[in-house]
Amino acid sequence: MNRVYIKTYGCQMNERDSEAVAAMLRARGYRIVGDEGDCDIMLLNTCSVRDAAEQKAIGKAGYVSHRKKKNPDFVLGILGCMAQNRGASLLDQLPDVDLIVGTQKFHQVPDYLDNLRAARDAGVPIGETIIDIAEEAGSQNTIKDHFEPGAGENGEAGEVAPQVNAFVSIQQGCNMDCAFCIVPKTRGDERSRPMDDIVTECRGLAARGVKEVTLLGQIVTSYGRRDYAHTNGISPFVQLLERVHEIDGIERIRFTSPHPRGFKEDLAAAYGRLPKLCEYVHLPMQSGSNRILKAMNRPYSRERYKEIVDSLRAVRPDMYFSTDIIVGFPGETDEEFEQTRELFEACNYDMAYIFKYSIRSGTPAAGMGDQIPDEVKEHRNAVLLDILKRNSERRNAVLLGTVEEVLVEGPDKTGQRFTGRTRGNRVCIFDANPRLIGQLVPLKIERASVSTLYGELVLQGVER
Ligand code: SAH
Ligand code: F3S
Repeated sequence: MNRVYIKTYGCQMNERDSEAVAAMLRARGYRIVGDEGDCDIMLLNTCSVRDAAEQKAIGKAGYVSHRKKKNPDFVLGILGCMAQNRGASLLDQLPDVDLIVGTQKFHQVPDYLDNLRAARDAGVPIGETIIDIAEEAGSQNTIKDHFEPGAGENGEAGEVAPQVNAFVSIQQGCNMDCAFCIVPKTRGDERSRPMDDIVTECRGLAARGVKEVTLLGQIVTSYGRRDYAHTNGISPFVQLLERVHEIDGIERIRFTSPHPRGFKEDLAAAYGRLPKLCEYVHLPMQSGSNRILKAMNRPYSRERYKEIVDSLRAVRPDMYFSTDIIVGFPGETDEEFEQTRELFEACNYDMAYIFKYSIRSGTPAAGMGDQIPDEVKEHRNAVLLDILKRNSERRNAVLLGTVEEVLVEGPDKTGQRFTGRTRGNRVCIFDANPRLIGQLVPLKIERASVSTLYGELVLQGVER
């Protein structure tokens, strides 16, 4: 009666939080299972960034709660951003949920489940829903170092899956107050983890064979701005990159999400002198119209944005770029969208996340007049996706016949072949020997679809 299935919605931060909860539960003797039909406890780690994400989780929870009719001991929990955003009001739609735990209380989940279990073992029916969405001082330090050696992806006992890449949380929350964004509400104030703790975690990961770390936060470029001074014009975030760069064994460093305003000279220069820093930047543009950027409370212009892209390309001509765009922000005219389209084209993105504006109640944009009809959003979305597809095909065509460094991550979805990523974050599929998992290998690119590269390892004297 201790089998837990965790379903994660949304961003990498959520994935990482789910991994942390899983590790804490394993340490308490729970089993994390990969089959949702085969669990006693289901935890949904939710996303609130767009309405569709919330509706998806609510739909799932509604459907799953029917299981309680057959099995009154079945436990259903809602964790993370939607729990934080909606709190007890979730019970209006989902009266059967047992647990609602917000973004600063993940570390309490094992205790709450223990309590539910104890009550059940004592024959007491599961009573009122446990709701904990309070703030917690120092919560940026409560979840960390969650990987246990030898614990497999889905935690089956005895399974040994070498860990190749890891997310490392460096900061939580955001104080930017972009007019459309619910994150400052769901994730709270910006808080940074101490630099020494992060470096220690990365060293530990390297010692366990991890080759690639992704530093995570809502606005990583602001890392440590209240806690550490600039030294010789170098921001605390770049200081952190330098320190992670020094760690033997870490071969690749990525980070997400940054804010354009964090791309000062020190960060651009870091790409020139820190070779482990992958030449892939996710640089959220949101809009290419200065009027809309202002209405969004995004403190940069289209001109400044393009300047950042150019400065990074000057340091690393082979830089890969991705971005976030919102189409149909309140009041966005055809001309303003055209400016977004133009800048989008000019930046030549390799990857992009294009979102149709979604009203988030409680945010400033929700109250703005002139909401844009869905068909218009749909059309603008399609225009950008089409450009993206062409960019991606063009980039892939250039890669054909070249040899790329690939970090072998493990079997692909079919289980027949292997998957890994290039430094530019392109997914590759190839044949390999399982012994190569966790290794950086040269791959000759032979074929490409829009999103995936296919190739053959070029290993001399090494068994493939
Ligand atoms: N800094 C955060 C941003 C979180 S939101 C991070 O870790 O990625 C991710 C993206 O969702 C934003 O960059 C924005 O493009 C999009 N987004 C946020 N709020 C939105 C809304 N109300 N409607 C549509 N897209 C939104
Ligand atoms: Fe959201 Fe803007 Fe922060 S997009 S996470 S408020 S930088």
